[in-house]
Amino acid sequence: MTLDNLDLIHRRGIITGAGQGIGRALALEFGRRGGHLLLVGRTLATLTETATLVAAVGGTSEILVADLTADGAVARVADTVASWEVLDLLVNNAGNVRAGRLELSTDADIQSMMTLNLIAPILLTKAMIPALRKSGQHRGSIILGISSGIALVGMPFYAVYAATKAGLSRFDESLRRELIGTGIHVATVYPGATDTAMMTSQNAGADLGWGRRPLDDVITDLMTALEAGEHEINTAPEGRRAMQRLNVTDPLAVDAAIAPTLEALERAVRDHRSI
Ligand SMILES: NC(=O)c1ccc[n+]([C@@H]2O[C@H](COP(=O)([O-])OP(=O)(O)OC[C@H]3O[C@@H](n4cnc5c(N)ncnc54)[C@H](OP(=O)(O)O)[C@@H]3O)[C@@H](O)[C@H]2O)c1
Repeated sequence: MTLDNLDLIHRRGIITGAGQGIGRALALEFGRRGGHLLLVGRTLATLTETATLVAAVGGTSEILVADLTADGAVARVADTVASWEVLDLLVNNAGNVRAGRLELSTDADIQSMMTLNLIAPILLTKAMIPALRKSGQHRGSIILGISSGIALVGMPFYAVYAATKAGLSRFDESLRRELIGTGIHVATVYPGATDTAMMTSQNAGADLGWGRRPLDDVITDLMTALEAGEHEINTAPEGRRAMQRLNVTDPLAVDAAIAPTLEALERAVRDHRSI
């Protein structure tokens, strides 16, 4: 669904997980458009690199080193931007993954994914809505949730990750409707497999339906769609989109397609971990 074009120039906002991958790439995109950004993550060195890159393309930034799974982290983010006159962008990007059979998963990994991918964005969004609403009076504020294609087609060995990403998508959708008329635009991104550090420990390739797209291509599609005012931004390649459509009309056909690949997929993803 498309409404109006969205002005992405001179945005002032928060990007979680801005030290690498999709978060850093988005920081550069908003920096290039003259943005001022709070870069959040756990690692000072990578956030500092992002800040340098943002400055090189014409943006400005501040850094907050914070583990978003820790108690009080959201309050620290809120405190950091409390003095900003304008806050019209929130990118809920930080996320982690641990693949594997559910019964072999540790409780700590399950809790880490639930906390970082779902609870932290909900708490952070809740804390930022008053400022986003206030700043959105003129040209609108943006909440951008980085979900995953796995929110549209649940994949074996990713049950918990899928739960967090599907949860984030429905959270965004509900909130979008709740915020109609407030000037806050809520958009959700569904990246398919994208070539970032998160995927380095995953060995499933195109033969198993996990062909990766280059990060630059994904970001170009994402920014084009966001600028066009889209709410549901799907950057998956066509093969995966066909499966997404089939999952709506005939989910058991998806089960049947996946069944012969189960053993190979389990082997290919058994080391996939970014926690
Ligand atoms: N790459 C893909 O194929 C793909 C596909 C679909 C969706 N996604 C989603 O896209 C988002 C970005 O993924 P990516 O591929 O760019 O991942 P990535 O390369 O692993 O980057 C994740 C970022 O999140 C930060 N982070 C991790 N744990 C954190 C914590 N506890 N507190 C604060 N920050 C934390 C990391 O920095 P520190 O380690 O320094 O904290 C890092 O900057 C994630 O939500 C992911 O689920 C990715």
